Amino acid sequence: MKEVVLTGIRSNDEPTLGNYIGAFLPMAAQAKQHSEQYAVHMFVPDLHSITTPIDYSQLHTRTMRNLSLFVACGLPLDNDSIYIYRQSYIPAHSELTWILDNFTGFGELSRMVEFKDKSAKLDNDRVSVGLFNYPVLMAADILLYGAKWVPVGEDQRQHLEFTRTIAQRLNNQFGLDLTLPETIEKQQEFVGRAAAPRIRSLKNPAKKMSKSVDDPAGTILLSDNPNDAYKKVMSAATDDVGAVHFDWDAQPGITNLLVILASLTNTPQDEVNEHWTGTTQYGEFKKHVAQSVYDCLEDLQTRIASVDTGAIEQHLQKSEQHMNQQANKTLLAVQKAVGLRT
Ligand code: TYM
Repeated sequence: MKEVVLTGIRSNDEPTLGNYIGAFLPMAAQAKQHSEQYAVHMFVPDLHSITTPIDYSQLHTRTMRNLSLFVACGLPLDNDSIYIYRQSYIPAHSELTWILDNFTGFGELSRMVEFKDKSAKLDNDRVSVGLFNYPVLMAADILLYGAKWVPVGEDQRQHLEFTRTIAQRLNNQFGLDLTLPETIEKQQEFVGRAAAPRIRSLKNPAKKMSKSVDDPAGTILLSDNPNDAYKKVMSAATDDVGAVHFDWDAQPGITNLLVILASLTNTPQDEVNEHWTGTTQYGEFKKHVAQSVYDCLEDLQTRIASVDTGAIEQHLQKSEQHMNQQANKTLLAVQKAVGLRT
């Protein structure tokens, strides 16, 4: 059995440059380089996409667009070890979530930073139980397929930890053999990165760049016109230190740009830092970052226009059938363990 590499990208809104650097890029690279060694699962968590208020009329279109983006980013489909699927097409995700819910503490979920951040932006009555339950559904996504490798951004650290905790809890209590995903540090080593990325808002570098937040000037969407994106980078908030340094505390705006530049030019962070450290010309530095963003978007948008959606539909059907079989096996083992099946 091949080890499983798995990641999901929600379709609640148009993906951002943060999603691209945090998830699309490392997964497409894994799939291209290692699909002989691993089973690669890149899926759309469409059920997670409705945990915050969205434009529901766009959900299906956005889900299909995410799938096209996977391909535009380089995920090869002519390969039997690569699976693309929609979470809601595999009912075992919801069923396992319900079971796991009963082994999850209210306090445990209340401590989730993502929940606190997202719920703080909504009126209390609009904070859904689904948003609260988000990490449990994510744990089900991972545990159903025994995924050891789950490349995600830094914002998902607690959710990954929770998945390890709940798997261990069930294994201990019922003698199950659920695979624990590796820690977030190991995940980064696996995809060849020094640390999990956290791309910040260009306008407010204390906050992450996010598609769920209304921050158009600080957020680069993958659908942005490349010229507009260039301008957003040129007007990114920096500081008055006067020289470039990689320092999240003292210079978060500049450091964010250094990370974006390294990721988009596929250059080690140390090399990029060495090249720019001490530069006093912020404008010159920003131009380089802006150009790397421009080139990335232009290239991606050209590629997405020529994606074969028929091939995606075909691959989806095959993958979803296969995933249902795999997921149901794990679900049955858990159902038996807790006494729901004999
Ligand atoms: P989503 O759609 O919010 O984010 C998808 C991926 O993008 C990463 N990401 C970022 N990385 C760096 N900087 C940012 N500003 C940034 N914003 C987002 C996220 O870390 C994530 O890797 N909960 C997941 C979706 C999911 C999932 C799963 C992932 C559902 N089930 C199972 C892995 C395994 C999420 O954050 O989606």
